[in-house]
Amino acid sequence: MTSAICFDVLTLFPGIFEGFLSESVLKAALTTQKIEVRLHNMRDWAEDKHATMDDRPFGGGPGMLLKVDRVVPCVEEIQRRQKPGRLLMFTPQGRCFNQMFAEELATEQRIVMLCGRYEGFDERVAEILKPEEVSIGDYILNGGEVAAMAVIETVMRLVPGILGDEDSNRFDSFSTGNRILDCAHYTRPREYRGFSVPEILLSGNHAEIARWRKNNSLQQTKEKRPDLLAAVSENSHSENSPLKTEPKFSQISIIKNQNQCK
Ligand code: ADE
Repeated sequence: MTSAICFDVLTLFPGIFEGFLSESVLKAALTTQKIEVRLHNMRDWAEDKHATMDDRPFGGGPGMLLKVDRVVPCVEEIQRRQKPGRLLMFTPQGRCFNQMFAEELATEQRIVMLCGRYEGFDERVAEILKPEEVSIGDYILNGGEVAAMAVIETVMRLVPGILGDEDSNRFDSFSTGNRILDCAHYTRPREYRGFSVPEILLSGNHAEIARWRKNNSLQQTKEKRPDLLAAVSENSHSENSPLKTEPKFSQISIIKNQNQCK
């Protein structure tokens, strides 16, 4: 069986991925060959006996940079081994990774991911390879490995047949069926320390439950992530607004695939 999607990860620290790939949903997806993850240690492309991968920046300054003459041959060889994949390079300067970006990546057969370390890459790596630079948020990690794990985990959830229920990711927060936050969920016990499950969820009235969930989802988004809601129609502020009783999702336009991380 050939897997639906293959991730090639180029890293100096393949060991970081060991636990991540050997538990839970990822372990199952790998065992059943629904996805494939190949780890490549970039140090194997260093020709000197110390396997030097980094060097000091010209012009001075702190930290070390990944060397262009180590990284480029490594990426080129990995890409040549089969039909070249979509090449991502993790840097804090990149396009912000989000659910819509993940949906785009889930249509690929092969994704090649280049993980930086130290102060980053010699700029010529980007000039020569022209990768898509990707960031997972406005903060600085020690390297791209955690970002690669975030991409693998988010994209693999979108591969059909991986999650138990085919629909179970459609209504996740930010997803195709629901670009805002998911509603609140409850399970047994019905009451705990004086906190009860909303009555409506116990009613068995599916239409009412669906209405409650839509409303709760909208409410959660307004409170926790108002930035996801934009341009709610003018009359939504009036007392008899339909939004006060039943949210009309056609009235809410969600900010399009933002390129900046929030
Ligand atoms: N490398 C360091 N910080 C990063 C970030 N926020 N996203 C992607 N790669 C990174």
